[in-house]
Amino acid sequence: MTNQNTLWQSLGRLYPHVRPIIPRLVLGLLCALGASVMALAIPQVLRVLINDALAEGGSARTVWVASGVVLLLGVLEATFVALRRQFVITPATTVETKMRTSFYRHLQNLTVEFHDRWGSGQLLSRAMSDLNLMRRWMAFGLIMLVVTSLTVVMGVTIMFFTSWALALIFVAAAVPLIIYGYRFRTSYSRVSRKSQDQAGDLATTVEESVHGIRVLKAFGRSREALEDFEEQAEELRRTEIHKARSLANFSMIVTLLPELALGASLVVGVTLAASGDVSIGALVAFFATAAAVAGPVEFIGPLLAMTFTAKTAIDRHYEVMEAENTITDAAAPVHLDAPRGDVVFGDVHFRYPDAQADADDVLDGIDLRLRAGETMALVGVTGCGKSTLLQLVPRLYDVTGGAITIDGVDLRSFSLEDLRSLVAVAFEDTTLFSTSVRDNVLMGSDATGAEADRLLEEALDVAQAHFAFELPEGLDTLIGEEGLSLSGGQRQRIALARAIAAQPTVLVLDDPLSALDVATEERVEVGLRSMLTSTTTLIVAHRPSTVALADCVALMQDGRIADVGTHSELLARNDHYRYVIASLDDEEIAQLGRAVQPALDDEGALA
Ligand SMILES: Nc1ncnc2c1ncn2[C@@H]1O[C@H](COP(=O)(O)OP(=O)(O)OP(=O)(O)O)[C@@H](O)[C@H]1O
Ligand SMILES: [Mg+2]
Repeated sequence: MTNQNTLWQSLGRLYPHVRPIIPRLVLGLLCALGASVMALAIPQVLRVLINDALAEGGSARTVWVASGVVLLLGVLEATFVALRRQFVITPATTVETKMRTSFYRHLQNLTVEFHDRWGSGQLLSRAMSDLNLMRRWMAFGLIMLVVTSLTVVMGVTIMFFTSWALALIFVAAAVPLIIYGYRFRTSYSRVSRKSQDQAGDLATTVEESVHGIRVLKAFGRSREALEDFEEQAEELRRTEIHKARSLANFSMIVTLLPELALGASLVVGVTLAASGDVSIGALVAFFATAAAVAGPVEFIGPLLAMTFTAKTAIDRHYEVMEAENTITDAAAPVHLDAPRGDVVFGDVHFRYPDAQADADDVLDGIDLRLRAGETMALVGVTGCGKSTLLQLVPRLYDVTGGAITIDGVDLRSFSLEDLRSLVAVAFEDTTLFSTSVRDNVLMGSDATGAEADRLLEEALDVAQAHFAFELPEGLDTLIGEEGLSLSGGQRQRIALARAIAAQPTVLVLDDPLSALDVATEERVEVGLRSMLTSTTTLIVAHRPSTVALADCVALMQDGRIADVGTHSELLARNDHYRYVIASLDDEEIAQLGRAVQPALDDEGALA
């Protein structure tokens, strides 16, 4: 990813965030400026001291006054520095937090397709370190850059007034500095971008291996993972060294040139003083000023580096912030007061954005109708697109052709909030969050108080998740990544309870019972049917037992719905259905419940 914005364009994008704190930044700037003025004033006192007090006829009183003034200036300088910090730190951290929050909000809004494309570490590093870099630049880099530049300009002006001939030598030294500065900008920006991207990739690697630690250990792949990591870390180290070297080279020039100029002007200055063209006091003041300016000049290297890094951080931040959310609310959303839950897929086409140009659509004209309250099983060989179809219902992806309607209204005509309260989902891979059982289950519900408690218990009951009451702290037990580890079946049942507790009109379940034993599965199905009589349910089934408990079955083949009917109808008339069912676990067929066994016997289909 490259970003063509110029430095000013990139930095300028911070303006809307910085605007509210401009008064504080200006106060901080004034304080920093105050501190530099104090530092620059000290040589002038020296000049007066040397020219007047130490000259013949000077009084001891002048020495005391001058010393007192120098002391006062020193104290003022320190006070200004402390005040600068005071003014700037709080507002800058506030900006950082706000930007981080809006980044997170944007991540939540962005489509699943975006998240498919972006490594988690790239997002993590943007949310954490890039924003941190930006804050440091805002609170320190920006102010110091302005103040340092002003200090140098003021110092050089004073030097001109003290002795223009000597000052010219300094200005001449600045010319190569500026040329080199331009070169530095290009090279440093490039390497800083590389380092920030590599840090993001490294974060992705850490995230993945922490996530997959069990697999890595079980397959004895920890060492390979470590080697991969070391390689990436080594690459980052090389980039960092390159970066540091680039800054070191620039800093060396920035330090060296003023020193050379100082040496040259010393020779010229002493000659001028000897010939009486410059007073000794002026000469001392000139060099004291030059010394006071040298510090800020040396500081320019790191400050510029910080600015270029901030530019990269801003570019990286906005790459995400500008990623467009293509799944948005309708302009004039339709609201259903009393949704029934008739779901119709009309000639639905879908292909993933990263699909090859010549590949067929994953969904290639799906026609399917679910009547309100009906439970339909969706069956098909693995990889045929069942999960893909389900994800279209809550609009995790939008159809690329055709339409899906609920009660005759196109999904895209609802507001997303409405749609997501109409539809609840339990996915194949159950994700639980690091919070209590209660919060995980009630995630999709707006109910509060006693109503929420009732809903929670009912959902857990239907999902056969009674184990949750027996957890160490009952429903307040922390589960998910940082909490108590649950078994696969337990996780599935919590996820199912979460979908049920949302009280949807349309319930979409992606093989949510795969980890349950057949008896538990049947209890769940019975519970589901009795509780959700008014809920339209589309359930992906990988097991004959799940299939048998649905009102009817849709068979998916080659991106289309090949047949719809009851389980026994399909067994009787559809070869592909028999093939799919036969490919499901034989053992389970042997364990099939009452509902299926007679059908199999009757049809003799699996002989
Ligand atoms: N995020 C994605 N990006 C690109 N292609 C994808 C993505 N998810 C799935 N696919 C592809 O789409 C096709 C259908 O996948 P899908 O997950 O819908 O199958 P499925 O019927 O649910 O399979 P299973 O029974 O194994 O769960 C597959 O070929 C898969 O490789
Ligand atoms: Mg699937």
